[in-house]
Amino acid sequence: MTTSTIQNLMKQMTLDEKIAQLLQLAGPFFKGSSEQGHITGPMAAMPISDEHIKNAGSVLGVSGAAEVISIQSTHLENNRLGIPLLFMADIVHGYKTIFPVPLAIACSWDPELAQKSAEIAAKEAAVSGVHVTFAPMVDLVRDPRWGRVMESTGEDSYLNQVFAKAFVRGFQGPDLANDPQSVAACVKHFAAYGAAEAGRDYNTVDLSERQLREFYLPAYKAALNEGCEMVMTAFNTVDGIPATGNEKLMRSLLRDEWGFDGILISDWGAVKELIPHGVAEDDKEAALKAIKAGVDIEMMTACYVQHLAELVSEGEIEEAIIDEAVLRILTLKDKLRLFEKPNRGVDVELEQQVVGHQDHLQVSKELATKSCVLLKNDHHILPLNKNKNIALIGPFVDSGDILGPWSALGLKEEAVTLKQAFEKHLPIEQLNIVTGCHVETISSQQLEEAVHAASSADVIIVAVGEDSEMSGEAGCRTNIQLPAPQLELLKALATCGKPIITILFNGRPLDLHGVLEYSDAILEAWYPGSEGGSAIVDLLYGIAIPSGKLTMSFPVNVGQVPVYYNHFNTGRPKGAPDAQERYVSQYLDAPNDPMFPFGFGLSYTQFSYSDLELTSTQLTTDTEITATVNVSNVGSFTGEEIVQFYIQDLVGEVVRPMKELKSFQSITLEPGDTKQVTFTITEQQLRYHHADFSFKSDKGSFILYAGTNSIDVLSHSFQLISQGRN
Ligand code: GLC
Repeated sequence: MTTSTIQNLMKQMTLDEKIAQLLQLAGPFFKGSSEQGHITGPMAAMPISDEHIKNAGSVLGVSGAAEVISIQSTHLENNRLGIPLLFMADIVHGYKTIFPVPLAIACSWDPELAQKSAEIAAKEAAVSGVHVTFAPMVDLVRDPRWGRVMESTGEDSYLNQVFAKAFVRGFQGPDLANDPQSVAACVKHFAAYGAAEAGRDYNTVDLSERQLREFYLPAYKAALNEGCEMVMTAFNTVDGIPATGNEKLMRSLLRDEWGFDGILISDWGAVKELIPHGVAEDDKEAALKAIKAGVDIEMMTACYVQHLAELVSEGEIEEAIIDEAVLRILTLKDKLRLFEKPNRGVDVELEQQVVGHQDHLQVSKELATKSCVLLKNDHHILPLNKNKNIALIGPFVDSGDILGPWSALGLKEEAVTLKQAFEKHLPIEQLNIVTGCHVETISSQQLEEAVHAASSADVIIVAVGEDSEMSGEAGCRTNIQLPAPQLELLKALATCGKPIITILFNGRPLDLHGVLEYSDAILEAWYPGSEGGSAIVDLLYGIAIPSGKLTMSFPVNVGQVPVYYNHFNTGRPKGAPDAQERYVSQYLDAPNDPMFPFGFGLSYTQFSYSDLELTSTQLTTDTEITATVNVSNVGSFTGEEIVQFYIQDLVGEVVRPMKELKSFQSITLEPGDTKQVTFTITEQQLRYHHADFSFKSDKGSFILYAGTNSIDVLSHSFQLISQGRN
């Protein structure tokens, strides 16, 4: 359809029909929808008529080829003008084949593989009837109390941009319009949802414009620059106004400054939530504020369908503002060819072949092995020798709850558990498997069984963590340690005098007190997805070598939060050469540094960095500096190392972070090998938002860091001798 054809269609639509296009309902409202439709928000009573349903623009949380075909055909029979439904769903890290949670995927530092995972998710979802996925979630996070950190890619703006682009490319592919195995992406949650005060979901966000522009906004922009079709509003306030009713954020910045003319969809119920936020008296005012802010689709509340017509008749809004929203929605339906082919990529037969395909599971396993992070490996206890007798103990030894909170159609009972993977890898006589405790309870009998099993083993492997209800949306915790029963189990096992290897299944950085003291090795497995067990066993036995690096700091304890690597120096930095003993920025009862910093991750081998050199120490706007560093494998295993490059701006017009990640490279080295890794420094990389928000660089002194994480680095200074500007 051409735009004029769409406009002709709109001319035929009544005002009520146009307004209903802005309504998104969950599956149960539609005939033919099975109960399995995913309900991912509060189901309040809604004044929705059959007329509203007949004219609704989109549905969320429904998939399955037969079901989508049924709902779409019923809808087309009832819709006067034959306007098809858009089917949207949360396909965040997999549809049926579940990949590690995004915070884990980020630890792979492998955007190509991340893109591949999104491609597969799109393929499985599209053949099952999904047109739009509510992903990628690119909210920058610094507070592990927040349940949704598992859904983000971490604390660094540059890395979040890299993954935002990779996920959009994976979901949408190179030709969304003509590739029915792709899905439109919806970047979320705009904006700065990850900065909720006290790490409590839906809580107030109050950031300076500088923090927003420098750290929180770039990843959304990166997704849109990559062609992302849709944006979802955040539940939170931004500078005192809820995002969903925030004209400055949505009209001035997103649409005018950034030029985004795609669909803006509210999060679940977020339009009506303008009332409890205290910026709308009632549904009518909520509708007014949201439509004026440019929100095109109202998800799962009925303020628009109840009040927009009235607001037009009262002259509060022009019909044109509704037409603007309807045009965007019909334009996306047209781009996806839904008017010609309402069932787009849906195919009942193909669905059976594609969804959950073995090749997809293989990619999930590969990504899981690259997403795990080795946090500790004393005495090189890992990798394990196959002749060891193993006691496999803990609430996660045979748990399928390793898919994470946004696991779409992934089935826990189909996930490969640690127990299943071990039983495939070792003779049963070498294995002694006991639960030891539940996630949040323990009995004396369980404890006795566990200690008994441990006493006869050569090595104890403990599988502990958070169940997925303790993570994800509304899964916030003030205590970010493992639940006490699991710590009790670990402490008791430590009395057996055997090496302990702890596997963590969790969705957030944890306070690892009570784990570090008793573990000889710790492997952070996150929620590793459908093939989690087999990926972990491959790592434990050296079939795969750990290479993951943290993208979110692990605090010493929750009192340090927020703790992140790209912090400012303050006027009284601890550890400065002339620092006072007491009057510096420090704690009396804890260090400033996190337990494990951004970029941290061990291998079975060891890497040594040397000879960081620059082709020049003077940079201008027209030149580049090439930096080289030698990385050697000085251990006895082949390993993959993610070489990280950071830059520090020593003097800015505003305070500047101690380090900022600018690039990274993954290299694989055989024992004894050395590789020279190159990084090109340009003036553009030195630009930042000045006091007046102009985005430019300053002449002056900088330091380049190269290393294996954000703390263990080599450094070399250089100068920028001419100023650039955007
Ligand atoms: C939820 C989430 C959002 C999700 C939406 C639809 O409340 O905040 O990320 O896409 O509702 O399920």
